[in-house]
Amino acid sequence: MKNTVLTFRDAKIKGEKLTMLTAYDYTTAKIVDESGVNSILVGDSLGMVMLGYEDTLSVTMEDMIHHTAAVARGAKNALVVGDMPFMSYNTGIRDAVINAGRLMSEGRANCVKLEGGKEISDVIKAIVEAKIPVCAHIGLTPQAVNSLGGFKVQGKDEESAKKLIEDALAVQEAGAFAVVLECVPALLAEKVSNMLDIPTIGIGAGAGCDGQVLVYQDMLGLYNDFVPKFVKQFANVGEVMRSGIKEYIKEVQNGNFPEEKHTFKIDREVIEKLY
Ligand code: KIV
Repeated sequence: MKNTVLTFRDAKIKGEKLTMLTAYDYTTAKIVDESGVNSILVGDSLGMVMLGYEDTLSVTMEDMIHHTAAVARGAKNALVVGDMPFMSYNTGIRDAVINAGRLMSEGRANCVKLEGGKEISDVIKAIVEAKIPVCAHIGLTPQAVNSLGGFKVQGKDEESAKKLIEDALAVQEAGAFAVVLECVPALLAEKVSNMLDIPTIGIGAGAGCDGQVLVYQDMLGLYNDFVPKFVKQFANVGEVMRSGIKEYIKEVQNGNFPEEKHTFKIDREVIEKLY
């Protein structure tokens, strides 16, 4: 059954954990969807894991629409979350609503996600008023890597922990249906989760969150340029791919592939009539 924002609301009420994973293309989205996750995030992390950038800042609206549309075609049951890229919602409410609308109408997302707390609560409110559900994202917000001075855990001292709580309450008040908590101490994330009526989706925020999200390349062992502390590798798909590819190279080189069963037939007389 299709997951919706109501699935998220009900899960919070019932205390059932929510699952979210990233995907960026049709084939992967189908596998992730068929495996039964509640939600697929087309994250701007695609800048790093799909496009090889060092951060997410170069990702464009066109990139996000292209990948979100591919995922939406493959996701039958998961709620598709389209991530709003850097500077697509920071230049004014009008730009933010137009760009959120493009992710919905051209990308066929079911909702959008944007990074930031109290300072963008007016933007969240306007997008929600345009009937576009918003998943907020606070704590470590990778688009702010230059202001934060790196990819660092957030909310470790009293002042920044208070700020995280204020941000969480502000995005809930603005109408977000869920909030991602990234790289936040586990006890603080648990406290925030208990304070909110909307579900928290943690990444590097411990088991006290209402759900979890991971980048699929990280949890399947496909991307090892940088492996964050919070990642658990549930499988080593990178190794499976490497060994399959090595086998292919070997069989092409030694003539074992393709075999007759992989080829198409033609009558011998046709061949003999040629030239
Ligand atoms: O872009 C992304 O994949 C994300 C997750 C890390 C939450 O925002």
